[in-house]
Amino acid sequence: MKLTYGSEAAKKVVTVRFVPKDRREKISPAVSESEFSGKASALLYARHDATLHVGLGERAKIDPHTFRSAAGAAVMFLKKIGETKIAFALDEWPQFAGSAVEGALLADYRFESFKTKKTAALESLHVQVLGEDLPKTKRTGQRAATIAEATNLARDIGNQPGNLLYPATLATRAVRLARDFKLKVTVFDEKKLRAGKFGGMLAVGQGSARGPRLLILEHRGGPKTQPPIALVGKAITFDTGGISIKQAAGMEDMIFDKCGGMAVLGAMAAMATLGVKRNVVGVIASAENMPGGKAYRPGDIITTYDGKHVEIVNTDAEGRVVLADAIAYARQDCKATAIIDLATLTGACGVALGEYAAGFFTNDEAFGQAVRAAAERAGERIWPLPVFEEHEDQIRSNVALIKNSGGRLGGACTGAAFLKTFAEDTPWVHLDIAYMAHREKDRPDLARGATGFGVRTLVELVENWA
Ligand code: BES
Ligand code: MN
Ligand code: ZN
Repeated sequence: MKLTYGSEAAKKVVTVRFVPKDRREKISPAVSESEFSGKASALLYARHDATLHVGLGERAKIDPHTFRSAAGAAVMFLKKIGETKIAFALDEWPQFAGSAVEGALLADYRFESFKTKKTAALESLHVQVLGEDLPKTKRTGQRAATIAEATNLARDIGNQPGNLLYPATLATRAVRLARDFKLKVTVFDEKKLRAGKFGGMLAVGQGSARGPRLLILEHRGGPKTQPPIALVGKAITFDTGGISIKQAAGMEDMIFDKCGGMAVLGAMAAMATLGVKRNVVGVIASAENMPGGKAYRPGDIITTYDGKHVEIVNTDAEGRVVLADAIAYARQDCKATAIIDLATLTGACGVALGEYAAGFFTNDEAFGQAVRAAAERAGERIWPLPVFEEHEDQIRSNVALIKNSGGRLGGACTGAAFLKTFAEDTPWVHLDIAYMAHREKDRPDLARGATGFGVRTLVELVENWA
């Protein structure tokens, strides 16, 4: 897609005009309120002058999210009617150029690699602002485009099915991506995981014919000696539940159990392109959770990378088991100053918050605040949930240090309590993105499937965290 900026209107394109509700009547005296309400993302197409009006709602409530959705809804609509060369008239809204570009690119993405009929992609987008706003608009527009493209990359790998995308093929993609984006990459295959005593990774991965991989991506943008911030992601390429097998209905959605890892991958790509001046390490824990003759079982006692003994009581609580190793590795080997993990960890988080926010947990007030501020700026909603001492009691084991499930009650919190054990004293945040990582249905501004949730928060966090 060709992205251009200018103070002149683009020729022979459909122009998108952004209209707050109080300006609804100004469009044309002939347009009635039932035809165009001016509500956020409401659309009115005027074919005769190649203009699409898109509502912004109440002027006082207009924010980046308003623009992202409005721009996205406009792009989806125009593509549907075959218009793929468009311009955004943003002379009055230069401060929202970044949000509009982001919304446009996110709306342009569809997962269609395996569809016979594909929808045409956006050919060109011209961003029109006044001359004096041009340089700044270009900068914010390009930044938004980089982050949106990285988000779409995370979505595209996230949408791949389990037969094609498994730990080894994910590793291959990560290596290729690292080459393209100039990141350092290290892959721990089974042999190296065994040598390094990554007991959690090996236990979860042992039931699959396709072995686990731990992927380490490094971006060195800061001083040599600066300890990195660690981004840790759960990347279970398919989660059957293992011996504690899941029911059949909806199991196909467990291809999205890798999306925490994909957010890390996307964020690393974006930060490399942006040249973020900080050292960052991405740690992606990838395995396929399968039942079978070699699978780990309820009752097993395993030893994690940092030597902690864990009683397995439910093989479907596998995410925390691979993350235990990944978090311990970030703490011990990367010497991370802070660790944030993203994981489709528990159905219970969806029961608590619905599909409207990711669960947020932390052991550190300052780092927690930094993450919440970053998510706020990114327009990704996260919501605090606690780890009480009682939650920690709930995962005490009779035979080991802890067990991997505390049962049904407070499931999101006991999952977090488990991970907290492995962060020890390192400032740590856990985002449970179970119901944020993918969507069942198309939204007017976003295609169904993997959402890329987390990429933007991670980039915002690292860019602004001292
Ligand atoms: N990947 C699932 C969590 C999940 C469920 C994500 C639904 C998205 C939608 C995770 O591995 C899991 O199975 N968690 C269990 C934990 C339980 C066994 C303690 C769960 O949520 O039931
Ligand atoms: Mn599971
Ligand atoms: Zn899982």
